[in-house]
Amino acid sequence: MIATHIVLGADHGGFLLKKHLIDWLNTQYPTVPLTDAGTHSADRVDYPTIAATVCDTLKATTDAVGILVCGSGIGMSMAANRYRSIRAAVVTDALSAHLSRAHNNANVLCLGERLTTPLVAEGIVNTWLTTPFDGDRHQKRIQLFSSE
Ligand code: RB5
Repeated sequence: MIATHIVLGADHGGFLLKKHLIDWLNTQYPTVPLTDAGTHSADRVDYPTIAATVCDTLKATTDAVGILVCGSGIGMSMAANRYRSIRAAVVTDALSAHLSRAHNNANVLCLGERLTTPLVAEGIVNTWLTTPFDGDRHQKRIQLFSSE
């Protein structure tokens, strides 16, 4: 497990998958605390607002990672990557999940409810949460990001 705390957020396009993942995480990793930053219904909300709440919470929480869900994962990743020290990756398959951790040390996973089934999302989240960062040459590259 790459973190001791997980912060989740979704807009109206992703709240059902977020709810599924929270239930699944509570079963799969019962000792890992979760923070649910909303939203909780199909009422429209703006994904940058949710991304901001999650990124602010991550900054204030030791050893935490984030999971953001919208319709595609794309808007959430664009919004989250504006924040210093946030490395958000849109992931649609297990290999991307692995590489986003091993090579990019992603600390926010972005999923699209319209693109990814709950079962596939479980596999992605499991791979993502259990893949360590390879460091070394990849660390040097991450330090070249202007926002690090
Ligand atoms: C909301 O309709 C949708 O645009 C949003 O969930 C997300 O997919 C944006 O990238």
